[in-house]
This record gives sequence, C-alpha cells and structure tokens, in this order.
Amino acid sequence: MIFLAKIKYHLSVLILMATTVTTSFADEKKALFSPSTNIAWDAEQINFVKAGSASNGEKLNKDKMCSLCHGEQGLSKGRNWPNLAGQTANYTFKQLLDYKDHKRLDSTPAAMMTTLAKRLSTQDMADLAQYYAGFPLPQSLQENLNTALKTQNIENLIKQGDGSRMLVPCLACHGSKGQGAITDTPALAGQQAIYFRQTMNEFKSGKRHNDVYSRMRIIAKSLTQDEINAMANYFAQMNATENSSDKTATK
Ligand code: HEC
Ligand code: HEC
Repeated sequence: MIFLAKIKYHLSVLILMATTVTTSFADEKKALFSPSTNIAWDAEQINFVKAGSASNGEKLNKDKMCSLCHGEQGLSKGRNWPNLAGQTANYTFKQLLDYKDHKRLDSTPAAMMTTLAKRLSTQDMADLAQYYAGFPLPQSLQENLNTALKTQNIENLIKQGDGSRMLVPCLACHGSKGQGAITDTPALAGQQAIYFRQTMNEFKSGKRHNDVYSRMRIIAKSLTQDEINAMANYFAQMNATENSSDKTATK
C-alpha cells in the first residue's frame, strides 16, 4: 500500500511538472522592466491577509496539491522545495501574488509555481498564507553545503554585517532569531539549504527581482559563493521555535 501511494505521489509530481511548465522568455523580459511587485502594503492589504482563514487554507493545501511538495504542514518533501511552515503570512501572500503576476519567473520551478498560482484567487492566497503561518518554524535541519568558512565568521557576518562592504546584518531585517519580521520580511530559520542557496544566487544574478528596492539583489551581489553556502547551512540549522513569542506580532 505504502509502495503504491509512493508511486502515485511521484506520478502526480511528474505530471504536474510536465503539464504546467511553460517558461515564457517574453514574460520574463517584460517583468524585468516593470515594478518588482504589484503589492502595496496599505492598511487594507494588511488586514486582508490577516483575515485569511487557516482552516480553508488547510483544505486548499490538499485540494490544490501544494502538499505534494510542501507537505501537509508546510514542511517540504524535497531539499530544493522551500519550507513554508511558520513563514510570515504577508511574505507567503506576496510571493504567491508575485508568481501569479509574473514577477518571480526566474527558473523552471518558479515557472511551475507561476502556473499553480494563476489558479488561486487572492482570498485563496491569504487563506494558505495563514495556514502555513500557524505552524512553528521547522526544526534545525542538518545541512552541509561545501564551504571553507568557519561558523563563527559567518555568524559574525549574519549578526553584525560588514561595514567595509556596507552590508547590513541579515538579522537586522530578518529578526534576531531568523523568525521573520514586519510587513513582508521572511523567516529564514529552518529553511532548506539548497533552496536558500538557489534563491540567493538568483538574487545575485538578478534573475529573481521581486524584492522591493532591490534590497536582496544588492546584498547578494556583495557575497561570495562560499559565504552564501555557509549562510545556507547556518540558517537551515537555526531553530527559532523556542523563541517565537515575538513572532506572532508579525503574522
Ligand atoms: C511540484 C512541487 C510543488 C508544488 C505542487 C507546489 N510547489 Fe510551491 N514551490 C515549489 C518550488 C520548487 C518552489 C521554489 C520556486 C522558485 O525557486 O521560485 C516553490 C515556491 C513556493 C513559495 C515561495 C516560498 C519562498 O520561500 O519564497 C510558496 C509561497 C509556495 N511555493 C506555495 C505553494 C502553494 C500554495 C502551492 C499549491 C497551490 C504550491 N506551492 C505547490 C514546489 C512546489
Ligand atoms: C534591508 C533589509 C534586509 C536585509 C539587511 C537582508 N534581507 Fe533578506 N530579505 C529582505 C526582504 C524584504 C525579503 C523579501 C523579498 C521579496 O519580497 O521577495 C528578503 C528575502 C530574503 C531571502 C528569500 C527567502 C525565501 O524564502 O525565498 C533570503 C534567502 C534572504 N533574504 C537572505 C538574507 C541574508 C542571508 C541576508 C544577510 C546577508 C539578508 N537576507 C539581509 C530584507 C532584508
């Protein structure tokens, strides 16, 4: 039975990938010359996401097949699929809308997410965002991407930044425990290292350009590959769950 379920699962993923990937280079080009996002965080928008229904989100997570890759509770089933559990709701909402609006069309997986997001209403997005936000952040993942840097050095960079490169500390924006912060700043604690590395490299190359004011693109450009790998390991292993009391305010 388990064996059959596994085959069924793999088949569904394959079919999904085969039928939905439609990368359009014209779309990508168009996106490059338009604003990084269509979202404006006014009070109405913030309240709309806040009022999302987590219980409807749970249903959508199954019905729209999100759980195939992101798991029943937002814990992904593959190392290059991002974890969504405990993510700040505004960030999840913004990403889904950005995919739908062709603002995040950087790769084949992003193109697949774009196709899936087009089938969601903004209400669905708010419901899903609240559903994932209701879980604790993922437990520390053991990750070991190749890097020559010492943990201590990378921790200093993450916590203190680097004045010589005008690098603001990651945690100044992403929360002191990597738990995410106000408006749409994502949690990074417990994120899959391979996904983290991939998306940082896409910020660095400019392929991912849905960050407002190019903040993440500018930061990623001044980091070396070694530093990105070490940061991916660091954040994957970070566990913000025990310190999540200040996190609820951001949801
Ligand atoms: C076949 C696997 C698969 C399915 C099914 C899937 N996703 Fe994804 N999802 C991915 C991958 C891979 C990415 C990373 C894409 C990229 O690099 O832009 C992603 C990215 C995301 C992100 C952005 C995460 C971040 O940290 O920026 C969100 C939010 C998301 N998915 C939600 C959903 C929702 C909601 C559904 C159901 C409607 C869904 N996904 C279905 C594989 C999947
Ligand atoms: C000035 C504030 C700021 C600083 C400093 C900052 N970030 Fe970000 N970061 C953001 C915002 C805002 C986003 C959301 C971008 C978007 O809307 O897609 C983001 C997105 C990200 C993402 C994508 C998350 C995902 O799930 O796809 C990663 C990874 C990331 N940041 C890592 C870092 C690292 C590592 C550092 C330190 C070297 C850093 N950030 C410093 C504000 C910041």
